Amino acid sequence: MQGVGAIVLAAGQGKRMKSDLPKVLHRAAGVPLVGHVLNSVAGTGITEVIVVVGQGADLVRRALGEGYKYALQEEPRGTGDAVMKALPLLSPECREVLVLCGDTPLLTTASLVRLIEVRREAGAAAAILTSIFEDPRGYGRILRGEDNLVRAIVEESDATGEQKEIREINTGTYVFDREALERTVSRLQPDNRQGEYYLTDCISLLRADGLAVAAVSAPAEETAGINTRRELAAAERILRRRECERLMEEGVTILDPDTTYLDHGVKVGRDTVIYPFTFVEGATTVGKGCVLGPGTRLINSTLGDNVEIQQSLVVESTVGDDCRIGPYAYIRPGSILAEGVKVGDFVELKKVKVGKGSKIPHLSYVGDAVIGSGVNIGAGTITCNYDGLTKHETRIGDGAFIGSNTNLVAPVTVGENAVTGAGSTITKDVPPGALAVERARQVVVPDWAKKKAEKGKDK
Ligand code: UD1
Ligand code: CA
Repeated sequence: MQGVGAIVLAAGQGKRMKSDLPKVLHRAAGVPLVGHVLNSVAGTGITEVIVVVGQGADLVRRALGEGYKYALQEEPRGTGDAVMKALPLLSPECREVLVLCGDTPLLTTASLVRLIEVRREAGAAAAILTSIFEDPRGYGRILRGEDNLVRAIVEESDATGEQKEIREINTGTYVFDREALERTVSRLQPDNRQGEYYLTDCISLLRADGLAVAAVSAPAEETAGINTRRELAAAERILRRRECERLMEEGVTILDPDTTYLDHGVKVGRDTVIYPFTFVEGATTVGKGCVLGPGTRLINSTLGDNVEIQQSLVVESTVGDDCRIGPYAYIRPGSILAEGVKVGDFVELKKVKVGKGSKIPHLSYVGDAVIGSGVNIGAGTITCNYDGLTKHETRIGDGAFIGSNTNLVAPVTVGENAVTGAGSTITKDVPPGALAVERARQVVVPDWAKKKAEKGKDK
């Protein structure tokens, strides 16, 4: 959007969160609150964004990264003061300024675009995004004149009993003509109960200058500011439901959106079915025709098509097409499964490459390993990858068969089509096609039970 810059206020303390973390960094649907605001701004096409930081400034900068300019407000002296700190950083091309709070994560791009359009059409100096709240407590109230035009905004703490009855509130989102904003913000005075420079006072100053102020109403569900943990949980619920709705639109079946936890922006292919108590988090991509859950958690992972995975946890890993995982598998970072791999119950993998069609069906720990294709790993197999000091690698060639309860003491290589006998502790490399057995020969004592019983009788 040409000629429009945005200022996002994120310097406040967020006292009511009772947290060591700056309020705007608390996450909902996997994204910091201020990140949602920035996403909505990005959706409008605005590219010049100034974030005002103060409390935990370094943390906020680090979380949001390089794509923004930052203005530092050292003391939280009010929203007007915060805007004043940001204005000099806007380029001369910005003729219009969108101002937003970092704690309103539910705002949509559509409402921002409408706000900008309404101000332009009305030729007003400013436009305010307002909302009608059932319970307006804590918000600034919109005062309208007899002509029904916006006259001023009064903060809760400065409002009269009568003004507190007003249910039209200030969402803290505005668009200003830049010059008009610069002219008024420099005239603000902290002459109010909180002793702060209120950005909201710009509205009555503009009106006093004889300029028009427009207002646009947005649904209450979009405009709540997050000040407490309760409000955070409510926002989480709404954002999560929006993600479910987005995926259902795209052809994903979700059995129960109320118990499906999707982070903002996850990708899931069509005809995938998601069972309850499933979490899809971070930068995760799931292919088409998969079955996820029940009870599955995917974090920063990539799944191919037609993967079935139940009651399992997959972290920072890649799963190929047609894999079957779980129940109760734990796939840890750095694992890469080729297509058609089976990872069964109570199997833990860590940093393992598994070739096409290989199977690790039950009760195994495999870490720091490279497994070829068509390999069968018997139940109870353990890679002994850690000697107390460093990690070592296990390599298993194509078509190998690892007998049940084998310990593979790394570094060790089992060649192609080699076999290890059940219960063996393999410490030496096994050549291709060989059988390696490492266990004591079995002793059989005939009639031992009978003899034992007779001995007992003698006593
Ligand atoms: C503000 C508005 C109020 C509106 C409400 C909507 C003012 C004076 N009041 O009140 O009319 O109904 O938002 O949610 O603007 N911030 C700074 N620096 C400061 C103070 C605040 O950057 O010195 C930031 C905060 O980090 C936050 C935003 O501005 O993201 C709003 O601040 P907050 O203290 O939550 O304002 P409210 O009292 O909610
Ligand atoms: Ca607020």
